[in-house]
Amino acid sequence: MTKQVQAFIFDLDGVITDSAEHHYLAWKQLGQELHIPFDREFNEQLKGVSRMDSLERILALGNRQHDFTAEEKEALATKKNEHYKELIKGITEADILPGITELLADIRKHGLKVGLASASKNAFVVIDRLGVGEHFHYIVDAAKVAKGKPDPEIFLKAADALGVPYENCIGVEDAEAGIEAIKAAGMFAVGVGTPESMAKADYVVSGTSELRYNEIIARFQQTK
Ligand code: BG6
Ligand code: MG
Repeated sequence: MTKQVQAFIFDLDGVITDSAEHHYLAWKQLGQELHIPFDREFNEQLKGVSRMDSLERILALGNRQHDFTAEEKEALATKKNEHYKELIKGITEADILPGITELLADIRKHGLKVGLASASKNAFVVIDRLGVGEHFHYIVDAAKVAKGKPDPEIFLKAADALGVPYENCIGVEDAEAGIEAIKAAGMFAVGVGTPESMAKADYVVSGTSELRYNEIIARFQQTK
């Protein structure tokens, strides 16, 4: 069967917009409230990971994973989300990361399908505020995904909804867990980040402004 690009499936936070930074700041604030400080290096592990799993990792870092009941953990996760919602209040289309609008336009021009595979339950709000909803043929509802990244479920769900074979999809991610999920789904992985953090990606760029349609397609074709 011929391998042919039919769809792009994007992560949101840190790829379409810089909300990965907002997640970091919101978790950092909760961490300070719990007296569990952490830095950007630790935060790399939280990228792409669900809200409750992120909380568990932060509590484990402070050796406090057994200090709270399930209800208290829910309350802590809600508190982080309140910090996050406050931080994203001002998001507008000016916050779309460089190169993304051009890439989405090129994908549309070539008639390919576009999906969004974000672990965030705030994804619909963020997409709406950025004003890019019309570019996406399908947005996976994170609340309906049973297994978070690095499990491939969310990318498989997006491809199924778009009606595209997995090997004909290109996934774009900024998280290690996200790249693992794309690869486990049998897709071509484009990583935005450092060569170290994106080691498992098929093609790595250091920033979204380097995401060029022709270059990505050329790299995909080379893996045939
Ligand atoms: C991912 C982010 O997209 O969504 C993570 O990379 C975040 O940092 C996760 O924890 C869940 O987001 P939310 O908005 O549902 O708390
Ligand atoms: Mg991300």
